[in-house]
Amino acid sequence: MITLDIVGKIVSGDFSGVIIRQKTGVDLELGELLVTREDNDYFIMQIYDISYGSQIPERIRSLAAGLKLEEQSNLSFIDDEISNFILVSLKPTLFVTPNRYHLPKRLPKFFSTIERITEADIKFLEKPNQPLYFGKIRSGSRVLDIDVFLKGDDVITHHVLISASTGKGKSNLVKVLTYNLLNESYAGLLIIDPHDEYYGRTKKGLKNHPNANNKVIYYSTSPTPGSNTLVLDIKTIKPWHLNGIVSLTEAQLECIYLFYNRDREKWIENIVLAENDDVVNTQTLAVLKRKFNNIFGISSDGNALHFRSGLFSNNSGITTIQNVIDYLQNGKTVIVDTSKLGGEVELLIGGIFAEGIFSKYKDLSSKGALYDKPCVSIIIEEAPRVLGKDVLDKGANIFGTIAREGRKFRVGLVAITQLPSLIPKEILANMNTKIIMGTEMSNERSALIESSSQDISEESRNIASLDIGEALLTSTFSKLAIPLKIPLFEDLFNQKVPYKEKTIPRGVDFD
Ligand SMILES: Nc1ncnc2c1ncn2[C@@H]1O[C@H](COP(=O)(O)OP(=O)(O)O)[C@@H](O)[C@H]1O
Ligand SMILES: [Mg+2]
Repeated sequence: MITLDIVGKIVSGDFSGVIIRQKTGVDLELGELLVTREDNDYFIMQIYDISYGSQIPERIRSLAAGLKLEEQSNLSFIDDEISNFILVSLKPTLFVTPNRYHLPKRLPKFFSTIERITEADIKFLEKPNQPLYFGKIRSGSRVLDIDVFLKGDDVITHHVLISASTGKGKSNLVKVLTYNLLNESYAGLLIIDPHDEYYGRTKKGLKNHPNANNKVIYYSTSPTPGSNTLVLDIKTIKPWHLNGIVSLTEAQLECIYLFYNRDREKWIENIVLAENDDVVNTQTLAVLKRKFNNIFGISSDGNALHFRSGLFSNNSGITTIQNVIDYLQNGKTVIVDTSKLGGEVELLIGGIFAEGIFSKYKDLSSKGALYDKPCVSIIIEEAPRVLGKDVLDKGANIFGTIAREGRKFRVGLVAITQLPSLIPKEILANMNTKIIMGTEMSNERSALIESSSQDISEESRNIASLDIGEALLTSTFSKLAIPLKIPLFEDLFNQKVPYKEKTIPRGVDFD
Protein backbone atom coordinates (compact mmCIF):
# COMPACT_ATOMS: atom_id res chain seq x y z
CA MET A 1 0.00 0.00 0.00
CA ILE A 2 1.37 3.37 -0.93
CA THR A 3 0.39 6.23 1.30
CA LEU A 4 1.49 9.50 -0.19
CA ASP A 5 3.05 11.75 2.34
CA ILE A 6 2.72 15.06 0.51
CA VAL A 7 4.61 17.87 2.16
CA GLY A 8 4.71 20.66 -0.40
CA LYS A 9 4.80 21.96 -3.95
CA ILE A 10 7.57 23.53 -6.01
CA VAL A 11 7.05 27.28 -6.40
CA SER A 12 10.37 28.65 -7.63
CA GLY A 13 14.11 28.19 -7.59
CA ASP A 14 16.95 27.19 -9.85
CA PHE A 15 19.62 24.56 -10.01
CA SER A 16 21.31 25.67 -6.85
CA GLY A 17 18.08 25.43 -4.91
CA VAL A 18 14.47 24.45 -5.53
CA ILE A 19 12.01 26.34 -3.36
CA ILE A 20 8.88 24.60 -2.19
CA ARG A 21 5.96 25.83 -0.21
CA GLN A 22 5.40 23.63 2.82
CA LYS A 23 1.94 22.17 3.26
CA THR A 24 0.09 23.44 6.31
CA GLY A 25 0.45 21.16 9.31
CA VAL A 26 3.66 19.59 8.07
CA ASP A 27 6.96 20.15 9.88
CA LEU A 28 9.96 19.77 7.66
CA GLU A 29 13.46 19.76 9.15
CA LEU A 30 16.90 20.72 7.93
CA GLY A 31 18.62 17.77 6.27
CA GLU A 32 15.42 15.87 5.44
CA LEU A 33 15.29 13.94 2.17
CA LEU A 34 12.29 14.50 -0.07
CA VAL A 35 11.24 13.14 -3.44
CA THR A 36 9.25 14.29 -6.41
CA ARG A 37 8.03 11.73 -8.88
CA GLU A 38 7.64 11.76 -12.67
CA ASP A 39 6.22 8.52 -14.10
CA ASN A 40 8.79 5.86 -13.22
CA ASP A 41 11.53 8.30 -12.32
CA TYR A 42 12.09 10.48 -9.32
CA PHE A 43 14.31 13.18 -7.94
CA ILE A 44 15.79 12.98 -4.44
CA MET A 45 16.27 16.37 -2.85
CA GLN A 46 17.60 17.49 0.50
CA ILE A 47 16.49 20.41 2.65
CA TYR A 48 19.22 22.96 3.32
CA ASP A 49 17.24 26.03 4.34
CA ILE A 50 13.84 27.01 5.69
CA SER A 51 12.30 30.49 5.71
CA TYR A 52 8.99 32.36 6.06
CA GLY A 53 6.90 33.40 3.13
CA SER A 54 3.85 35.65 2.95
CA GLN A 55 1.51 37.27 0.49
CA ILE A 56 1.09 40.20 2.80
CA PRO A 57 3.59 43.06 2.50
CA GLU A 58 6.14 43.22 5.29
CA ARG A 59 4.93 46.64 6.56
CA ILE A 60 1.42 45.41 7.06
CA ARG A 61 2.56 42.20 8.71
CA SER A 62 4.58 44.15 11.30
CA LEU A 63 1.67 46.44 11.96
CA ALA A 64 -0.79 43.59 12.28
CA ALA A 65 1.53 41.64 14.59
CA GLY A 66 1.93 44.75 16.73
CA LEU A 67 -1.79 45.33 16.96
CA LYS A 68 -2.37 41.73 17.86
CA LEU A 69 0.33 41.73 20.51
CA GLU A 70 -1.08 44.82 22.11
CA GLU A 71 -4.53 43.22 21.92
CA GLN A 72 -5.88 46.18 20.01
CA SER A 73 -7.44 44.15 17.31
CA ASN A 74 -8.62 40.79 16.26
CA LEU A 75 -7.07 40.72 12.84
CA SER A 76 -7.44 37.25 11.46
CA PHE A 77 -5.38 37.51 8.28
CA ILE A 78 -2.09 37.05 10.09
CA ASP A 79 -3.23 33.59 11.11
CA ASP A 80 -4.32 32.84 7.60
CA GLU A 81 -2.41 29.78 6.39
CA ILE A 82 -3.08 30.48 2.76
CA SER A 83 -1.39 33.88 2.81
CA ASN A 84 1.36 33.00 5.29
CA PHE A 85 3.48 29.90 4.90
CA ILE A 86 6.88 28.30 5.17
CA LEU A 87 9.29 28.13 2.24
CA VAL A 88 11.77 25.30 2.13
CA SER A 89 14.93 25.26 -0.01
CA LEU A 90 15.96 21.94 -1.49
CA LYS A 91 19.06 20.83 -3.26
CA PRO A 92 18.35 18.25 -6.00
CA THR A 93 20.87 15.50 -5.18
CA LEU A 94 19.91 12.55 -7.34
CA PHE A 95 17.80 11.58 -10.31
CA VAL A 96 16.69 7.95 -10.21
CA THR A 97 15.29 5.97 -13.13
CA PRO A 98 14.35 2.28 -13.06
CA ASN A 99 17.86 1.24 -14.09
CA ARG A 100 20.26 3.99 -13.22
CA TYR A 101 20.83 6.94 -10.97
CA HIS A 102 22.95 10.04 -11.39
CA LEU A 103 23.27 13.68 -10.47
CA PRO A 104 20.25 15.61 -11.80
CA LYS A 105 20.89 17.37 -15.09
CA ARG A 106 17.50 19.12 -15.19
CA LEU A 107 14.96 20.45 -12.76
CA PRO A 108 11.78 18.68 -11.70
CA LYS A 109 8.59 20.06 -13.21
CA PHE A 110 7.23 23.34 -11.93
CA PHE A 111 4.51 22.92 -9.26
CA SER A 112 5.43 19.26 -8.79
CA THR A 113 4.21 17.65 -5.62
CA ILE A 114 6.87 16.87 -3.04
CA GLU A 115 6.74 13.83 -0.74
CA ARG A 116 8.74 12.52 2.16
CA ILE A 117 11.20 9.84 1.14
CA THR A 118 10.37 6.21 1.85
CA GLU A 119 12.68 3.25 2.31
CA ALA A 120 11.71 1.95 -1.13
CA ASP A 121 13.13 5.10 -2.73
CA ILE A 122 16.71 4.33 -1.66
CA LYS A 123 16.73 0.58 -2.14
CA PHE A 124 19.17 1.05 -5.01
CA LEU A 125 22.08 1.46 -2.60
CA GLU A 126 23.44 -2.04 -2.83
CA LYS A 127 25.69 -3.95 -0.50
CA PRO A 128 28.98 -4.24 -2.40
CA ASN A 129 31.60 -6.97 -2.17
CA GLN A 130 34.01 -6.33 0.69
CA PRO A 131 31.41 -4.23 2.45
CA LEU A 132 32.22 -1.54 4.95
CA TYR A 133 29.22 -0.72 7.11
CA PHE A 134 28.57 2.87 8.17
CA GLY A 135 25.08 2.93 9.64
CA LYS A 136 21.58 3.71 8.48
CA ILE A 137 20.28 6.40 6.17
CA ARG A 138 18.91 9.40 7.96
CA SER A 139 16.37 11.90 6.72
CA GLY A 140 16.66 14.91 9.04
CA SER A 141 16.47 13.26 12.43
CA ARG A 142 14.34 10.36 11.18
CA VAL A 143 16.23 7.09 10.68
CA LEU A 144 15.34 4.94 7.67
CA ASP A 145 15.80 1.20 7.77
CA ILE A 146 18.39 1.17 4.99
CA ASP A 147 21.93 0.04 5.74
CA VAL A 148 24.72 2.01 4.14
CA PHE A 149 27.78 0.18 2.84
CA LEU A 150 30.59 1.25 0.57
CA LYS A 151 33.21 -0.97 -0.98
CA GLY A 152 35.60 -1.28 1.95
CA ASP A 153 38.79 -2.03 0.10
CA ASP A 154 38.44 1.17 -1.98
CA VAL A 155 37.41 3.29 0.96
CA ILE A 156 40.21 2.09 3.22
CA THR A 157 43.05 2.40 0.75
CA HIS A 158 41.97 5.92 -0.25
CA HIS A 159 41.96 7.17 3.34
CA VAL A 160 39.11 8.18 5.61
CA LEU A 161 38.66 11.35 7.62
CA ILE A 162 36.38 11.32 10.65
CA SER A 163 35.71 14.81 11.88
CA ALA A 164 33.54 16.24 14.65
CA SER A 165 33.59 18.30 17.79
CA THR A 166 34.24 16.44 21.04
CA GLY A 167 31.45 14.18 22.20
CA LYS A 168 29.64 13.95 18.85
CA GLY A 169 30.41 10.27 18.44
CA LYS A 170 33.74 9.83 16.63
CA SER A 171 35.00 7.03 18.87
CA ASN A 172 31.64 5.27 18.79
CA LEU A 173 31.75 5.40 14.98
CA VAL A 174 35.25 3.90 14.92
CA LYS A 175 34.02 1.10 17.18
CA VAL A 176 31.11 0.41 14.83
CA LEU A 177 33.30 0.46 11.71
CA THR A 178 36.01 -1.76 13.20
CA TYR A 179 33.58 -4.15 14.89
CA ASN A 180 31.84 -4.86 11.60
CA LEU A 181 35.18 -5.21 9.83
CA LEU A 182 35.89 -8.16 12.11
CA ASN A 183 33.29 -10.02 10.02
CA GLU A 184 35.42 -9.50 6.92
CA SER A 185 38.82 -10.68 5.84
CA TYR A 186 39.81 -8.04 3.30
CA ALA A 187 41.56 -5.65 5.70
CA GLY A 188 44.11 -5.60 8.48
CA LEU A 189 43.67 -2.79 10.99
CA LEU A 190 46.19 -1.02 13.16
CA ILE A 191 44.44 1.00 15.86
CA ILE A 192 46.59 3.39 17.84
CA ASP A 193 44.40 3.88 20.88
CA PRO A 194 45.40 6.75 23.20
CA HIS A 195 42.29 6.34 25.37
CA ASP A 196 42.32 2.55 25.61
CA GLU A 197 38.67 2.53 24.55
CA TYR A 198 38.50 0.11 21.62
CA TYR A 199 39.57 -3.25 23.03
CA GLY A 200 37.07 -3.01 25.86
CA ARG A 201 39.25 -3.65 28.88
CA THR A 202 36.51 -2.77 31.34
CA LYS A 203 33.39 -2.69 29.20
CA LYS A 204 32.15 -3.96 25.85
CA GLY A 205 34.60 -3.50 23.01
CA LEU A 206 36.13 -5.24 20.02
CA LYS A 207 37.17 -8.14 22.28
CA ASN A 208 33.47 -9.07 22.49
CA HIS A 209 33.15 -9.80 18.77
CA PRO A 210 32.54 -13.50 18.01
CA ASN A 211 35.71 -13.53 15.85
CA ALA A 212 37.82 -11.68 18.40
CA ASN A 213 39.75 -14.77 19.47
CA ASN A 214 41.45 -15.18 16.16
CA LYS A 215 41.23 -11.64 14.83
CA VAL A 216 41.89 -9.16 17.63
CA ILE A 217 45.42 -8.69 18.96
CA TYR A 218 45.86 -6.35 21.91
CA TYR A 219 49.15 -4.76 22.93
CA SER A 220 49.41 -2.82 26.14
CA THR A 221 52.11 -1.70 28.56
CA SER A 222 49.82 -3.20 31.20
CA PRO A 223 48.39 -6.21 29.38
CA THR A 224 45.30 -8.16 30.39
CA PRO A 225 45.71 -11.94 30.84
CA GLY A 226 46.35 -13.51 27.46
CA SER A 227 47.17 -10.26 25.65
CA ASN A 228 50.56 -8.96 24.58
CA THR A 229 52.99 -6.75 26.44
CA LEU A 230 53.88 -3.67 24.47
CA VAL A 231 57.66 -3.76 24.60
CA LEU A 232 60.19 -2.99 21.87
CA ASP A 233 63.81 -3.99 21.86
CA ILE A 234 65.84 -0.86 21.08
CA LYS A 235 67.88 -2.90 18.60
CA THR A 236 64.81 -2.86 16.35
CA ILE A 237 64.57 0.94 16.34
CA LYS A 238 65.98 2.62 13.25
CA PRO A 239 67.01 6.25 12.83
CA TRP A 240 64.26 6.95 10.29
CA HIS A 241 61.64 6.02 12.89
CA LEU A 242 62.37 9.40 14.45
CA ASN A 243 61.67 11.35 11.22
CA GLY A 244 59.15 14.09 11.70
CA ILE A 245 58.24 12.80 15.16
CA VAL A 246 61.25 13.77 17.23
CA SER A 247 62.73 17.14 16.31
CA LEU A 248 66.43 16.82 15.55
CA THR A 249 69.01 19.27 14.26
CA GLU A 250 71.29 18.59 11.31
CA ALA A 251 74.19 17.89 13.71
CA GLN A 252 72.13 15.49 15.83
CA LEU A 253 71.00 13.58 12.72
CA GLU A 254 74.59 13.32 11.52
CA CYS A 255 75.62 11.94 14.88
CA ILE A 256 72.77 9.41 14.82
CA TYR A 257 73.67 8.13 11.36
CA LEU A 258 77.35 8.00 12.28
CA PHE A 259 76.57 5.69 15.20
CA TYR A 260 74.05 3.75 13.14
CA ASN A 261 76.58 3.09 10.40
CA ARG A 262 79.09 1.89 12.99
CA ASP A 263 76.60 -0.51 14.57
CA ARG A 264 73.09 -0.92 13.21
CA GLU A 265 71.76 -2.65 16.31
CA LYS A 266 73.49 -0.97 19.18
CA TRP A 267 73.50 2.63 17.93
CA ILE A 268 71.12 3.87 20.62
CA GLU A 269 73.00 2.03 23.36
CA ASN A 270 76.31 3.31 22.06
CA ILE A 271 75.12 6.91 22.01
CA VAL A 272 73.80 6.62 25.53
CA LEU A 273 77.00 4.97 26.78
CA ALA A 274 79.44 7.19 24.84
CA GLU A 275 81.73 9.21 27.03
CA ASN A 276 83.42 11.21 24.33
CA ASP A 277 83.75 10.67 20.64
CA ASP A 278 86.59 11.69 18.36
CA VAL A 279 84.23 12.84 15.66
CA VAL A 280 81.10 14.05 17.41
CA ASN A 281 80.77 17.23 19.34
CA THR A 282 80.34 16.49 23.07
CA GLN A 283 77.50 18.97 23.28
CA THR A 284 75.56 17.17 20.51
CA LEU A 285 76.07 13.85 22.26
CA ALA A 286 74.82 15.30 25.53
CA VAL A 287 71.65 16.64 23.90
CA LEU A 288 70.98 13.30 22.18
CA LYS A 289 71.45 11.44 25.44
CA ARG A 290 68.90 13.71 27.04
CA LYS A 291 66.46 13.22 24.14
CA PHE A 292 66.86 9.44 24.22
CA ASN A 293 66.29 9.53 27.93
CA ASN A 294 63.03 11.39 27.32
CA ILE A 295 61.79 9.26 24.46
CA PHE A 296 63.11 5.78 25.18
CA GLY A 297 63.49 6.16 28.93
CA ILE A 298 67.06 4.98 28.58
CA SER A 299 70.06 6.36 30.45
CA SER A 300 73.45 5.19 31.71
CA ASP A 301 75.39 5.47 34.94
CA GLY A 302 78.69 5.37 33.14
CA ASN A 303 78.91 1.68 32.29
CA ALA A 304 75.43 0.12 32.53
CA LEU A 305 72.16 0.96 30.77
CA HIS A 306 69.02 1.78 32.71
CA PHE A 307 65.51 1.49 31.31
CA ARG A 308 63.02 3.68 33.06
CA SER A 309 59.81 2.31 31.53
CA GLY A 310 58.90 -1.18 30.41
CA LEU A 311 58.21 0.04 26.88
CA PHE A 312 61.77 -0.13 25.56
CA SER A 313 64.24 -2.82 26.53
CA ASN A 314 67.47 -4.47 25.40
CA ASN A 315 66.43 -8.00 26.28
CA SER A 316 62.78 -8.34 25.25
CA GLY A 317 60.49 -7.27 22.44
CA ILE A 318 62.91 -8.24 19.67
CA THR A 319 60.03 -9.60 17.54
CA THR A 320 57.32 -7.07 18.42
CA ILE A 321 57.58 -4.99 15.23
CA GLN A 322 57.78 -8.07 13.02
CA ASN A 323 54.84 -9.69 14.82
CA VAL A 324 52.64 -6.64 14.33
CA ILE A 325 53.52 -6.51 10.62
CA ASP A 326 52.69 -10.21 10.30
CA TYR A 327 49.37 -9.83 12.10
CA LEU A 328 48.39 -6.93 9.85
CA GLN A 329 49.31 -8.67 6.61
CA ASN A 330 47.20 -11.59 7.77
CA GLY A 331 44.15 -9.40 8.13
CA LYS A 332 44.12 -9.11 11.91
CA THR A 333 43.07 -6.10 13.95
CA VAL A 334 45.95 -4.92 16.12
CA ILE A 335 45.00 -2.55 18.94
CA VAL A 336 47.89 -0.73 20.56
CA ASP A 337 46.99 0.77 23.93
CA THR A 338 49.09 3.92 24.17
CA SER A 339 47.10 5.45 27.01
CA LYS A 340 50.02 5.35 29.43
CA LEU A 341 52.54 6.79 27.01
CA GLY A 342 53.41 10.42 26.42
CA GLY A 343 52.24 11.99 23.17
CA GLU A 344 55.62 11.89 21.45
CA VAL A 345 56.25 8.26 22.44
CA GLU A 346 52.76 7.28 21.35
CA LEU A 347 53.38 8.71 17.89
CA LEU A 348 56.81 7.14 17.75
CA ILE A 349 55.35 3.69 18.49
CA GLY A 350 52.47 4.18 16.06
CA GLY A 351 54.93 5.45 13.48
CA ILE A 352 57.25 2.47 13.92
CA PHE A 353 54.43 0.00 13.23
CA ALA A 354 53.07 2.14 10.39
CA GLU A 355 56.51 2.38 8.82
CA GLY A 356 56.96 -1.37 9.17
CA ILE A 357 53.78 -2.29 7.36
CA PHE A 358 54.23 0.44 4.74
CA SER A 359 57.73 -0.81 3.89
CA LYS A 360 56.46 -4.38 3.80
CA TYR A 361 53.68 -3.47 1.37
CA LYS A 362 56.03 -1.41 -0.78
CA ASP A 363 58.20 -4.48 -1.00
CA LEU A 364 55.22 -6.70 -1.85
CA SER A 365 54.25 -4.24 -4.55
CA SER A 366 57.69 -4.40 -6.16
CA LYS A 367 57.34 -8.19 -6.22
CA GLY A 368 53.86 -7.97 -7.75
CA ALA A 369 52.37 -9.68 -4.69
CA LEU A 370 50.43 -6.78 -3.23
CA TYR A 371 47.00 -8.12 -4.13
CA ASP A 372 47.63 -11.45 -2.41
CA LYS A 373 47.29 -9.64 0.91
CA PRO A 374 44.48 -7.77 2.62
CA CYS A 375 44.66 -3.99 2.53
CA VAL A 376 45.71 -2.25 5.72
CA SER A 377 44.13 0.63 7.56
CA ILE A 378 45.87 2.67 10.26
CA ILE A 379 43.57 4.46 12.66
CA ILE A 380 44.99 7.50 14.34
CA GLU A 381 43.31 9.84 16.84
CA GLU A 382 43.94 13.57 16.91
CA ALA A 383 45.47 13.32 13.48
CA PRO A 384 46.81 16.90 13.25
CA ARG A 385 49.53 15.81 15.70
CA VAL A 386 51.12 14.02 12.75
CA LEU A 387 49.30 15.48 9.75
CA GLY A 388 49.12 19.12 10.88
CA LYS A 389 50.58 21.82 8.62
CA ASP A 390 53.02 22.94 11.29
CA VAL A 391 54.22 19.37 11.87
CA LEU A 392 54.63 18.50 8.20
CA ASP A 393 56.42 21.79 7.52
CA LYS A 394 59.12 20.68 9.94
CA GLY A 395 59.77 17.46 8.05
CA ALA A 396 58.07 14.45 6.51
CA ASN A 397 56.84 11.70 8.81
CA ILE A 398 55.49 8.27 7.96
CA PHE A 399 51.84 9.30 8.39
CA GLY A 400 52.28 12.15 5.90
CA THR A 401 53.95 9.73 3.49
CA ILE A 402 51.08 7.25 3.81
CA ALA A 403 48.50 10.04 3.33
CA ARG A 404 50.27 11.03 0.11
CA GLU A 405 51.21 7.69 -1.41
CA GLY A 406 49.79 4.88 0.75
CA ARG A 407 47.03 4.28 -1.78
CA LYS A 408 49.52 2.82 -4.28
CA PHE A 409 50.54 0.26 -1.71
CA ARG A 410 47.07 -0.40 -0.29
CA VAL A 411 47.83 1.13 3.07
CA GLY A 412 45.34 3.78 4.17
CA LEU A 413 44.77 6.07 7.11
CA VAL A 414 41.66 6.68 9.13
CA ALA A 415 42.40 10.14 10.51
CA ILE A 416 40.23 11.26 13.41
CA THR A 417 40.14 14.92 14.34
CA GLN A 418 38.20 17.81 15.79
CA LEU A 419 40.28 20.30 13.82
CA PRO A 420 40.45 19.36 10.14
CA SER A 421 41.48 22.94 9.27
CA LEU A 422 44.93 22.19 10.71
CA ILE A 423 45.54 19.52 8.06
CA PRO A 424 46.96 20.80 4.74
CA LYS A 425 44.33 21.11 1.99
CA GLU A 426 46.21 18.78 -0.29
CA ILE A 427 46.09 15.99 2.31
CA LEU A 428 42.45 16.67 3.18
CA ALA A 429 41.57 16.38 -0.50
CA ASN A 430 43.45 13.08 -0.59
CA MET A 431 41.16 11.64 2.09
CA ASN A 432 38.59 10.39 -0.35
CA THR A 433 35.96 9.44 2.19
CA LYS A 434 34.89 11.85 4.89
CA ILE A 435 32.52 11.16 7.69
CA ILE A 436 31.45 14.55 8.93
CA MET A 437 29.70 14.71 12.27
CA GLY A 438 28.42 17.66 14.31
CA THR A 439 30.80 20.61 13.98
CA GLU A 440 29.96 23.98 15.49
CA MET A 441 32.99 25.93 14.33
CA SER A 442 32.42 27.45 10.91
CA ASN A 443 36.06 27.46 9.79
CA GLU A 444 36.23 23.72 10.48
CA ARG A 445 33.05 23.20 8.46
CA SER A 446 34.52 25.20 5.57
CA ALA A 447 37.68 23.08 5.56
CA LEU A 448 35.50 19.95 5.29
CA ILE A 449 33.10 21.34 2.71
CA GLU A 450 35.90 22.63 0.46
CA SER A 451 37.67 19.28 0.40
CA SER A 452 34.66 16.98 0.00
CA SER A 453 34.07 14.65 -2.89
CA GLN A 454 30.52 15.87 -3.38
CA ASP A 455 29.32 19.46 -3.65
CA ILE A 456 28.07 19.98 -0.13
CA SER A 457 28.38 23.77 -0.19
CA GLU A 458 24.78 24.09 1.00
CA GLU A 459 25.31 21.71 3.92
CA SER A 460 27.04 24.04 6.35
CA ARG A 461 23.93 24.66 8.42
CA ASN A 462 23.04 20.97 8.41
CA ILE A 463 26.51 20.03 9.64
CA ALA A 464 26.33 22.58 12.44
CA SER A 465 23.05 21.12 13.62
CA LEU A 466 24.00 17.41 13.51
CA ASP A 467 23.22 15.66 16.77
CA ILE A 468 25.37 12.99 18.46
CA GLY A 469 25.72 9.97 16.18
CA GLU A 470 24.40 11.80 13.10
CA ALA A 471 26.78 12.18 10.19
CA LEU A 472 27.16 13.12 6.57
CA LEU A 473 29.15 10.67 4.47
CA THR A 474 30.91 12.04 1.42
CA SER A 475 33.07 9.82 -0.71
CA THR A 476 34.48 9.41 -4.19
CA PHE A 477 33.00 5.92 -3.92
CA SER A 478 29.45 7.14 -3.50
CA LYS A 479 27.43 9.16 -5.98
CA LEU A 480 25.77 11.23 -3.38
CA ALA A 481 26.58 12.64 0.02
CA ILE A 482 24.69 10.28 2.34
CA PRO A 483 23.12 11.46 5.60
CA LEU A 484 23.77 8.79 8.22
CA LYS A 485 22.76 7.72 11.68
CA ILE A 486 25.50 5.69 13.29
CA PRO A 487 24.21 3.00 15.66
CA LEU A 488 25.31 3.12 19.27
CA PHE A 489 28.08 0.53 19.61
CA GLU A 490 26.50 -1.10 22.67
CA ASP A 491 23.28 -1.64 20.68
CA LEU A 492 25.10 -3.89 18.18
CA PHE A 493 25.08 -6.57 20.85
CA ASN A 494 21.31 -6.57 21.04
CA GLN A 495 21.02 -7.50 17.39
CA LYS A 496 21.29 -11.08 16.19
CA VAL A 497 23.51 -10.12 13.28
CA PRO A 498 25.62 -6.97 13.22
CA TYR A 499 23.79 -5.76 10.18
CA LYS A 500 21.06 -7.13 8.02
CA GLU A 501 22.03 -9.06 4.94
CA LYS A 502 20.43 -7.35 2.03
CA THR A 503 20.82 -8.38 -1.56
CA ILE A 504 18.98 -6.46 -4.17
CA PRO A 505 19.62 -8.14 -7.48
CA ARG A 506 19.66 -5.64 -10.29
CA GLY A 507 21.13 -6.66 -13.57
CA VAL A 508 21.93 -3.18 -14.74
CA ASP A 509 24.94 -0.92 -14.74
CA PHE A 510 25.01 2.05 -12.53
CA ASP A 511 27.06 4.87 -13.93
N1 LIG B 1 25.66 6.90 17.39
C1 LIG B 1 25.37 7.20 18.65
N2 LIG B 1 24.13 7.03 19.11
C2 LIG B 1 23.83 7.34 20.39
N3 LIG B 1 24.70 7.83 21.29
C3 LIG B 1 25.96 8.03 20.90
C4 LIG B 1 26.37 7.72 19.55
N4 LIG B 1 27.68 8.01 19.43
C5 LIG B 1 28.08 8.46 20.62
N5 LIG B 1 27.06 8.49 21.51
C6 LIG B 1 27.14 8.92 22.91
O1 LIG B 1 28.00 10.05 23.02
C7 LIG B 1 29.10 9.77 23.87
C8 LIG B 1 30.38 10.37 23.30
O2 LIG B 1 30.71 9.69 22.12
P1 LIG B 1 32.21 9.49 21.64
O3 LIG B 1 32.16 8.52 20.53
O4 LIG B 1 33.11 9.18 22.77
O5 LIG B 1 32.54 10.97 21.10
P2 LIG B 1 33.90 11.58 20.55
O6 LIG B 1 34.85 10.46 20.33
O7 LIG B 1 33.51 12.30 19.30
O8 LIG B 1 34.36 12.55 21.59
C9 LIG B 1 29.16 8.25 23.96
O9 LIG B 1 29.63 7.85 25.20
C10 LIG B 1 27.73 7.82 23.77
O10 LIG B 1 27.04 7.81 24.99
MG1 LIG C 1 36.80 10.09 21.04
